[in-house]
Amino acid sequence: MTASAKITTPVMDMADLPPQSALAPASEAEARARYFNSGNAFNIKLPPVPGGVFTEPARQALSADTATGFIACDQSAAMGCAFPVTSPLMLARYAVIGAGEHLVADFEATGSIWYVIEGKGRAVQGGETIAFAKGDVFLLTGAPAALEAATRTVLWVVTNEPQLAFDADRRPTEEARPVDPVHYPAAEIARQIEIIYGAAPNAQTSGMALIFSSDRQQAARNILPTLTLSLNTLPPKTHQKAHRHNSAALTLVLNGDDSYSMVGGVRCDWSPFATLVTPPGAPHSHHNGGDSRALFLIVQDGGLHYHARTMGFEFLE
Ligand SMILES: [Fe+2]
Repeated sequence: MTASAKITTPVMDMADLPPQSALAPASEAEARARYFNSGNAFNIKLPPVPGGVFTEPARQALSADTATGFIACDQSAAMGCAFPVTSPLMLARYAVIGAGEHLVADFEATGSIWYVIEGKGRAVQGGETIAFAKGDVFLLTGAPAALEAATRTVLWVVTNEPQLAFDADRRPTEEARPVDPVHYPAAEIARQIEIIYGAAPNAQTSGMALIFSSDRQQAARNILPTLTLSLNTLPPKTHQKAHRHNSAALTLVLNGDDSYSMVGGVRCDWSPFATLVTPPGAPHSHHNGGDSRALFLIVQDGGLHYHARTMGFEFLE
């Protein structure tokens, strides 16, 4: 009597299968094919977007001995991303321009959103000139621009370069550009805020915020097709209810003594002109414990999510 041993081949978990290629490709096109499965290429988890506050680039930008140039809030190393990113689709930078000097902005982006932290000067793009001063907001197209400083100038600028880099896309040609340069002077911004404070919010309103758009983006109520810009405010001793949305937010702190944000359960204390990163989907709330109105400028990839019907906004309290 012979015992027959049953030989069992261990079955590999499909999640551990390496990428597959054609067994006998008959062409270069067939040889380029790779095959994955529902175990090793489903619900892919990428390194998360770190939330929190960038204070060091702000400190550097505001330091009097920092030379003319850009300082990026780059999280590409933490996010395993091949190009500079602050959030997956947006990049925030500080720009420093010495008195009498100039800086060229030549971004592979649909447009760039600027806030003047200090100083004054002018932005020259194509045939247009925007004379900017402290507290102004302006929008440039994707075309190269020169920024000239009359006095030492510090700006904050956000673009959608990561969005275009991700899709190997290129900035639109002059004919295809969806926006023209737009200037929102500080005094007009202040007047618009007072108009809002003269009206009443309703239960569905998220804070008392001014939303920036233009003649050509009026139907979408955005500043760029994929980006939204708002100046949010919080009266003294109030907070904005906890909420979440699938757009990431890059926030520049303009005014907020004794203010902070809760982002994903972590307290982020505000400091002047710091950049706060709110990762997509993260629960967050903003709190003004001080005696003056808090002001914060927020760029979000909201246009993209509005278009994709994936904004997923909800209050959490
Ligand atoms: Fe929010």
